[in-house]
Amino acid sequence: MPKLALFASGNGSNFQAIVDAVNKGQLDAEIPLLICDQKNAYVLERAAKANIEAHTFTFKDYGTKQAFEEAIVSLCQRHDIDYIILAGYMRIIGNTLLEAYQGRIINIHPSLLPSFPGLHAIEQAFEKGVKITGITVHYVDEGVDSGPIIAQAAVDIREDDTIETLTERMHETEHELYPKTIARLLETKGRKICK
Ligand code: GAR
Repeated sequence: MPKLALFASGNGSNFQAIVDAVNKGQLDAEIPLLICDQKNAYVLERAAKANIEAHTFTFKDYGTKQAFEEAIVSLCQRHDIDYIILAGYMRIIGNTLLEAYQGRIINIHPSLLPSFPGLHAIEQAFEKGVKITGITVHYVDEGVDSGPIIAQAAVDIREDDTIETLTERMHETEHELYPKTIARLLETKGRKICK
């Protein structure tokens, strides 16, 4: 069965949606690892409740991005990880991870890319006054939210929306789209053996 390492930095509602999909038999995969870069992130509590091994890597403990990512790659390889799934991981992926997991790092971003890449994508769309925004699942490359798109789902911005109501619908859409997209991808690609 394909092994996924989930990477997250914060609340972890997407982490939870993926774990729930595995537990319900909707996603045929194992999740042996959570990688987190923030020691107080709520996602760590979610991992503990789900009995998933969690490791926090604090960037400032490593001299360079390369050393930071080498430690992560080495842990993922020890766990025979096939795919890295970014679920609210707020750090740009560098060459070390990209080379080790080429074509096997997936991200979710809260906009219809290529519109509104980067931070605060929901707020960016809301403030711009667009009438439709949405969610994108994509492969990670060396750019910021720029890799090939795998799936998208649209979310209407309503006249009476506030940033809070819009954010809530965006999250609901993410929780539906992400596990389904990963399941489809794994069915198509099957398990790739780590190099
Ligand atoms: C999600 O909305 C995700 O799309 C976004 O962070 C949020 C994490 O929520 N990711 C990005 O903006 C990446 N550029 P969660 O911690 O509740 O899953």
